[in-house]
Amino acid sequence: MKTEDYLQQKILTGIKPTGTPHFGNYFGAIKPALKYSKYFKDSLFFIADYHSLINQPKSLDLQDNIYEVAATWLACGLDPKKSLIFRQSDIPEILELAWILSCFAPKGMLNRAHAYKAFIDKNTKENKKDLESGINMGLYSYPVLMSSDILSFDSNVVPVGQDQLQHLEMCRDIAGKINHHYKNSNILTLPKALDKQELKKITGSSDNNFLENSIMGLDGQKMSKSYDNYIPLFAEEKKLRKLIMKIQTDSVGVNDPKDSNNSLIMDWYKLFATDLAREDSSFDALLNINKLVSDYKKGISWGEAKEELFQLVNKSLSGKRESYNKYMSDKKQLDKILLEGKDKARLIAKATLSRVKKVIFG
Ligand code: TRP
Repeated sequence: MKTEDYLQQKILTGIKPTGTPHFGNYFGAIKPALKYSKYFKDSLFFIADYHSLINQPKSLDLQDNIYEVAATWLACGLDPKKSLIFRQSDIPEILELAWILSCFAPKGMLNRAHAYKAFIDKNTKENKKDLESGINMGLYSYPVLMSSDILSFDSNVVPVGQDQLQHLEMCRDIAGKINHHYKNSNILTLPKALDKQELKKITGSSDNNFLENSIMGLDGQKMSKSYDNYIPLFAEEKKLRKLIMKIQTDSVGVNDPKDSNNSLIMDWYKLFATDLAREDSSFDALLNINKLVSDYKKGISWGEAKEELFQLVNKSLSGKRESYNKYMSDKKQLDKILLEGKDKARLIAKATLSRVKKVIFG
């Protein structure tokens, strides 16, 4: 496909409201999805709250997380006039289609889903008597619900990380089975993953490291909620500074030269500098990065390097943080935006569902 062709297409992103978004989500999901959505005719962002339900969250936590996700994406630049943002649980048609899909989803295929298999492996390792212990049907049929999210809106392209590729394959498989069974290839639209190759076709360049943009956490492991090594994207200034000061460093002497090629502080600095330069043309990323590299050679202390990083991160996020806080203190406004998104999204999902039902039930 040529770049222009994407302008006719629909891109869809589902976001699980699992907790306060962090730096990893920002660089790995939010930024790229917002950036690439501009190449598509329609972009849909939805909060996958039914998917989070498989972990049986407390009601208030789930509600908080939903607002946090919505406020984060809006603060990062999602424009509800140009894109749709809505809650999955506001679109009952998704669940109706999900049942239909489940009747065409081979059970054996779902047995092979990564999340389910990982659970079984864990139970096996722990010598559990019942290998299915702790697994609910929501977890098991997660890929079917995700397929319904995608197919309900006739999505052409879905930006997914490595961990979600299998789900997308399953979605294509199920949709293909239905189209084949009813001998009509127009019933369901088979989606494509937005991977590196696809991205290159869209943007015409290969320098985007989207999908591999995983950011390391405070301890040098991949940043993740489960490792508790993350920095919340919109931590208040004081807390942000405190957390940055916690970055683990080696024991090179205070004034000794330091290796800028092997430093988490430097890696983060580069990411934020490049990000800031895109939004603020008066900021010269290269100049600032080179300066810090040369300070490393001269023997900047870790404390000073962290301070430099803090100043940059704070500068780069403060505007968005302000906007985030505004949204969070005005839930009515958030509700309004989500309801407007719902009204538009439901029209699409209704049309898809009635098309499918017409074929099946006449
Ligand atoms: N499973 C995705 C994740 O864990 C979230 C998701 C749900 C999704 N439905 C989707 C992503 C549909 C893309 C399309 O991140």
